[in-house]
Amino acid sequence: MTKTAVPQMTDYDMEWDAFFEREVAGSDGREEVASAEEDSETAANEEEPSRPADGEEAAEPEAIPVVANPGAINVMVNKFWSLPEGHRPGDLIKPNVPFSFGDENSDRSKLRAEAAESLEVMFQVAKGEGIELYARSGFRSYESQAAIFENEVAAFGYERAVLYVALPGTSEHQTGLAMDITAKSVGLELVEEFESTAEGKWLADNAHHYGFILRYPKGKTNITGYAFEPWHFRYVGVDIAGEIYAKGLTFEEYMGDVREF
Ligand code: DAL
Ligand code: ZN
Repeated sequence: MTKTAVPQMTDYDMEWDAFFEREVAGSDGREEVASAEEDSETAANEEEPSRPADGEEAAEPEAIPVVANPGAINVMVNKFWSLPEGHRPGDLIKPNVPFSFGDENSDRSKLRAEAAESLEVMFQVAKGEGIELYARSGFRSYESQAAIFENEVAAFGYERAVLYVALPGTSEHQTGLAMDITAKSVGLELVEEFESTAEGKWLADNAHHYGFILRYPKGKTNITGYAFEPWHFRYVGVDIAGEIYAKGLTFEEYMGDVREF
């Protein structure tokens, strides 16, 4: 498969950082900006069903059914299940791991306690094996996700935005159970090339031992609704993660709730 040429994100990153300082200071960072996956399977499924007509605002998350278990470790949020709008876990903590943005006590540096503790162990074991990982984006409030989504639409258009960024209320980052992970080998960016790095491979092969799954696998856009994100890891606990890894499932398949796009 050929990698798709996409805008390099250096300039966008700078604008993004400025944007956040201005609009949501103390809140979250930018969202992933990787190469769109363009294999035949995903290309056929890029259309977002709830795409608004020209001139309208993006679909309101209120239209998406709300999960009954927003605080569960195995909660599934996706394009068909949303979180309650004000949802914010009460047990967010900052794991003791390196961050791409340095040391700051912000939302984006936090995860729910169980996930944070497991992330710490995972990063430590990786380091012991010569794999240096960096956390880049953890918890996001509804408001942060809304800003990220709007910014992505402004930068790349709606079609692309919905492949890489969840509508507010539907992001796993708002559960406090997802962390975007990167490495110096890709300039601490969130890019598809991470898949081929030692760090990306290590994570894909080992994250399940620590309860994390690669949530948006390659070639599964028709099930997950998102492009391949080799950097986005979701904590579900070791039992579920182990089964998902062993059977090569998506979370939707594991939960028995697959809807074709
Ligand atoms: N990038 C994932 C889909 C999110 O925005 O939550
Ligand atoms: Zn993510």
